[in-house]
Amino acid sequence: MDRTSHRRRRTAGLIAGAVAAVTALTAGVLTAPAASADATLGQLAAAKGRYFGSATDNPTLSDVPYQQILGSEFGQITVGNTMKWMYTEPTQGQFDYTQAEAIVDRAEANDQLVRGHTLVWHNQLPGWVSNVPADRLLGVMRDHITNEVAHFKGRLIHWDVVNEAFEENGSRRQSVFQQKIGDGYIAEAFKAARAADPNVKLYYNDYNIEGVNAKSDAVYNMVKSFKQQGVPIDGVGLQAHLIVGQVPATLQQNIQRFADLGVDVAITELDIRMDLPRTTAKDTQQAEDYGKVVRACLAVSRCVGMTIWDFADHHSWIPSVFPGQGAALLYDENFGKKPAYYAVAAALGGTSSPSPSPSPSPSPSPGGDGCTASYKVTSQWQNGFTADVTVRNSGTAAIDGWTVTWTFPDGQRISNLWNGDLTADGSSVTVRNVGYNGRLGAGASTSFGFQGSYTSSNGTPTGIACAAA
Ligand code: XIL
Repeated sequence: MDRTSHRRRRTAGLIAGAVAAVTALTAGVLTAPAASADATLGQLAAAKGRYFGSATDNPTLSDVPYQQILGSEFGQITVGNTMKWMYTEPTQGQFDYTQAEAIVDRAEANDQLVRGHTLVWHNQLPGWVSNVPADRLLGVMRDHITNEVAHFKGRLIHWDVVNEAFEENGSRRQSVFQQKIGDGYIAEAFKAARAADPNVKLYYNDYNIEGVNAKSDAVYNMVKSFKQQGVPIDGVGLQAHLIVGQVPATLQQNIQRFADLGVDVAITELDIRMDLPRTTAKDTQQAEDYGKVVRACLAVSRCVGMTIWDFADHHSWIPSVFPGQGAALLYDENFGKKPAYYAVAAALGGTSSPSPSPSPSPSPSPGGDGCTASYKVTSQWQNGFTADVTVRNSGTAAIDGWTVTWTFPDGQRISNLWNGDLTADGSSVTVRNVGYNGRLGAGASTSFGFQGSYTSSNGTPTGIACAAA
């Protein structure tokens, strides 16, 4: 009990704290524009009174570079799998929250908000549930909800109480709950959740309800009748598993109409997939699409936050479910930030590309060439590291390309580099711009990053220089 109330206080203070921190940062930006580059997506969203988060799954818990980004970049975490029924009540009456808690504990240690996902869903349901006789399933569903919601009481901001209950034409999906309990099962699920924790916000969550269509109309009508009847619902989750070039034109209008019913809206599982392979054109369209989604949410005050369905392409569920498609997230498989990342940052009010930030030993190149480069190690583990290099047009006219060179002092080697074109000759490194980041207006900046290896030490490069084209 003590622990519960402690957690609740902590969560409430957290949003305020995050907003205060970013407000301070934003205030600094007025006098020193370059500082905004260090704001994470989570901080940028918090400055707008929203969260920006990511889903995550248990196998990544031991992946150090992954956790470094997950723990620092995002203000909110959704447990991607292990809160689902098959994990939490694999056998009737035997509850197991070990895996879900491993993620929640880590999120709390990182001061991140957590969404609970999901209590009642036709997928990832243990087989025994389907064998429960019709007259006992309502009780079984209530027990499941009551136990899980009570278990996490005070630690979560939202619960996705019911997931994916409608078909595309707006009819009810014929899940075991629908068939054995009937239309009333959704309202009963929300009531059970409210009784178990009066404070956590209760969401209905679904896909293909981002725009105005038959399915979102059905959800709209359900929410409207719940509000009229006093069924406790607080929010609607738009999953937003979208396709490049196909963000619904009615997204903002749809968010607004739900908000007008008196519920919050969250973008809960955002990813924007493409036919593989990636091309610069598809990346550019994807970046635009991500920007549109973020702007639509920010335009409606009751759209409280956005969550991407994991953050790096090699951790996405898309390739396994939509063969031939993928590359749907903000980071590539080497944890390089994609154009979509910068589009999200820009839509959240940050700079469209990072600008120079202090490095442990800042090493800007001498001016005069029209650009400067500064190098910063962003994470380091045994024998490996990632670094970001920010390239800034220090001149008074736009430049159309840039070349950054340096020498590694300790025999470091680059294994993967993103947002740049690498030529390495032993310890000598040359990186040129790629198509989409060569042109920089006066004072503008961009960045590239890489993952590298080192043996005994990882000293700052010498002779770092930037030449403009
Ligand atoms: C997905 C997970 O990401 C996969 O790892 C798992 O195999 C299947 O479920 N809608 C939802 C999510 O509500 O729970 C789904 O997550 C993706 C679609």
